Amino acid sequence: MSESEMRAVKKEITSGFSESAVHYEKYADLQKQMADRLIASLEPWTAIIPEGPIIELGCGTGFVTEGLLELYPDRKIECVDIAPGMIDYCQQKFADNDNVTFQVKDAEELIPDQPEYALTISGFTPHWFQNPAITLKKWLEATKPGGLLLTSFPGSESFPQWREYCQQLGIPYTGNILPDVEEMVIKMSLGPAQVDYYEDTIYQSFESARNFFEYLKKIGAGTQTEGRGLTKREMNLLINEWDASSTGDTVKVSWHGVFLAVKRDYD
Ligand SMILES: C[S@@+](CC[C@H](N)C(=O)[O-])C[C@H]1O[C@@H](n2cnc3c(N)ncnc32)[C@H](O)[C@@H]1O
Repeated sequence: MSESEMRAVKKEITSGFSESAVHYEKYADLQKQMADRLIASLEPWTAIIPEGPIIELGCGTGFVTEGLLELYPDRKIECVDIAPGMIDYCQQKFADNDNVTFQVKDAEELIPDQPEYALTISGFTPHWFQNPAITLKKWLEATKPGGLLLTSFPGSESFPQWREYCQQLGIPYTGNILPDVEEMVIKMSLGPAQVDYYEDTIYQSFESARNFFEYLKKIGAGTQTEGRGLTKREMNLLINEWDASSTGDTVKVSWHGVFLAVKRDYD
């Protein structure tokens, strides 16, 4: 992909999320569940991380931020998001919290080259980065020795049903390429760090596959980052096939949920 194509994709990701803050807050149930689990995985570490600020990459409407503020009511928390609409939403939602700041920023740019943060956290965001493993590796370097980088994202084994029906119909699979856990773990393990991860499958049910695609759009997550989109006819074929092959009244969508915890060791 050329530089200008990448910029165009990023712009689309930004406006998709920016315009969807209200819907995201209301309908992003799976993302909320993943945020709660990410915060639960942080609890045992709460008192262990070194002194210093916390940075959250891709705060969205603040599902993770909320948990951070409960665990760290007095610590400086810097939240960034590429989407101005998300930042506006959080600024209003957390207006009473003095220890948190919000900034419109691309988390793939201007990453500090010195260890500054006690905790770097990013819930369900790295799969929107152009280079998830490289970007997170740089953020690990911006994390203090003894500190922690904690993240969650949908992994490369998400959406097996969607893939299967596309293959059966001979149409392209238009889901985005999602991070490969093994590659991520290998990259993060290079250097002074201990990597731990957990993966499982999370199911969503919809009345029709059409509702799944509409849900992605509604929460701002509908941007296709590569390749051509399906024609209307292909989309209808896919939806009909997926619906017809489903047992019971609902269509099942399987997400590959990944949680990654990287403890930055002393050099
Ligand atoms: C699926 S939402 C997750 C939001 C929140 N962390 C949560 O758990 O609900 C992904 C968020 O990442 C943001 N995002 C995408 N690419 C980004 C980038 N390069 N830098 C910063 N934020 C980004 C989007 O604007 C969106 O708010």
